[in-house]
Amino acid sequence: MTETPCEAPIISLKHVNHWFGSGESRKHALKDISLDIHPGQIIICTGPSGSGKTTLLTMLGGLRSCQDGSLTILGNELNGASKEQLAELRLNVGFIFQAHNLMMFLNARKNVRLSLELHDRYYDQDMDRLADEMLAKVGLADRVDYFPANLSGGQRQRVAIARALVAKPKILLGDEPTAALDKDSGRTVVNLMQEMAEKEKTTIIMVTHDNKILDVADRIIIVEDGMLATREQEEAFVARMRDSAH
Ligand SMILES: Nc1ncnc2c1ncn2[C@@H]1O[C@H](COP(=O)(O)OP(=O)(O)O)[C@@H](O)[C@H]1O
Ligand SMILES: [Mg+2]
Repeated sequence: MTETPCEAPIISLKHVNHWFGSGESRKHALKDISLDIHPGQIIICTGPSGSGKTTLLTMLGGLRSCQDGSLTILGNELNGASKEQLAELRLNVGFIFQAHNLMMFLNARKNVRLSLELHDRYYDQDMDRLADEMLAKVGLADRVDYFPANLSGGQRQRVAIARALVAKPKILLGDEPTAALDKDSGRTVVNLMQEMAEKEKTTIIMVTHDNKILDVADRIIIVEDGMLATREQEEAFVARMRDSAH
């Protein structure tokens, strides 16, 4: 575990609440969450199913608006932000979801290229090469022209990871990114993410129940019933995990 850096946070939440629906069925999904995340940190988010992890993660990436409280990402206040501002912000964010969300009619290279095409800083003639290089890094050098239907579940997830990483996002969000992978490919993926955090100073926030990868985290946050556990509870959890690993 590293000390909290004194640098300004890249993501900061202050008293954030989020509700789904209205009337009788209104669900209070995030309750008074305050949290600072610093550049280059790897944060692992854990907690029971239905506790609000995915809701929090999508909010951190600008995929949903902030209804109540203050959410600043890369210096932009997102409470009251327009759709355009959210879209602009998302260019700095890479996502890896549980389900890979690949385009089934595009091969691996073209799926990864899509991420580059969103930006205006890449030349057309470089994009295939950059996509291939990233696919090679995730161990798919010999699969660049395969369509998702002809790849295994683990390979598809690695394409999704290459797509999330290729444009070197400042923030990388993963929702159980290793859940569909075997132990070795899971480790490869986590190592890649860690390398990004170190080399590119990418900030990584990952929802996971995979106890084998907790060691990469600078901090483990726990969401329970829409609330963030205290730092003391976090530390107790880490100590329990460490003990059970021996
Ligand atoms: N789009 C939605 N509409 C209504 N309720 C939702 C929606 N998304 C999530 N919820 C509810 O919000 C709570 C938190 O969900 P979620 O963030 O997906 O939890 P987790 O990722 O921890 O399993 C759950 O009770 C879930 O049913
Ligand atoms: Mg979830």
